[in-house]
Amino acid sequence: MKIRARLSMSADGYVTTPSGWPALTADPAFVSGQSHGIREFLADCEAALMGRTTFEPALTNSRWPWPDLDVFVLGSHRPEGTPDHVTTDSDPVRLLEKIRAANRGGDVHLIGGPRTIGTFHALGALDRLELVVLPMLFGGGMQLTPALSAEAGLNFLSQRALPGGAVEIVYSCEGSRGDLPGKPASQR
Ligand SMILES: NC(=O)c1ccc[n+]([C@@H]2O[C@H](COP(=O)([O-])OP(=O)(O)OC[C@H]3O[C@@H](n4cnc5c(N)ncnc54)[C@H](OP(=O)(O)O)[C@@H]3O)[C@@H](O)[C@H]2O)c1
Repeated sequence: MKIRARLSMSADGYVTTPSGWPALTADPAFVSGQSHGIREFLADCEAALMGRTTFEPALTNSRWPWPDLDVFVLGSHRPEGTPDHVTTDSDPVRLLEKIRAANRGGDVHLIGGPRTIGTFHALGALDRLELVVLPMLFGGGMQLTPALSAEAGLNFLSQRALPGGAVEIVYSCEGSRGDLPGKPASQR
């Protein structure tokens, strides 16, 4: 099992639009049907992992976004309306244990957002950081850092051009560990 964070970002480094939506949603190529490699990526995944902020909009979606994946959510409370099959926990270490206990050999798609990616990186549990860089400039929005520490220990693994002008870059983070988001190392 590998924990693989995969997220889209603008060419000027923002993972959300200025209004807070995931970067991909602003890309005309994605809106018109390009998958940006997500189908191939998901073929190796059996679970989705995310923070409560990223999870909550799914509860009002007309379509459940992860029909084929076990879903794990990190958050202080279980949001109202969360389906029974979703596992939630307020403690990232305990959630990681639950993910490992349930694992049948497939990978885990760490969807985000930045704070949750930073949290699992701080635990030394982030295996891959996969970025889909979109051919767009946002001029504002949320960045991956500082939630994911700048010392993420990235080792380049691969790159490929995607239809529509996006570029996928895959880094290994195995063996690296950052600070818990919002907490300096001295307070961990
Ligand atoms: N570009 C992309 O592909 C992409 C992908 C995913 C998300 N996003 C964007 O990312 C934004 C959200 O990112 P975010 O970083 O603010 O939020 P997030 O990581 O989705 O969720 C943050 C929440 O997760 C819980 N959490 C995280 N670390 C924790 C820890 N160490 N201990 C306990 N709980 C912890 C907390 O829940 P509680 O508050 O309940 O304690 C925290 O408020 C959204 O705007 C979304 O659109 C973009």
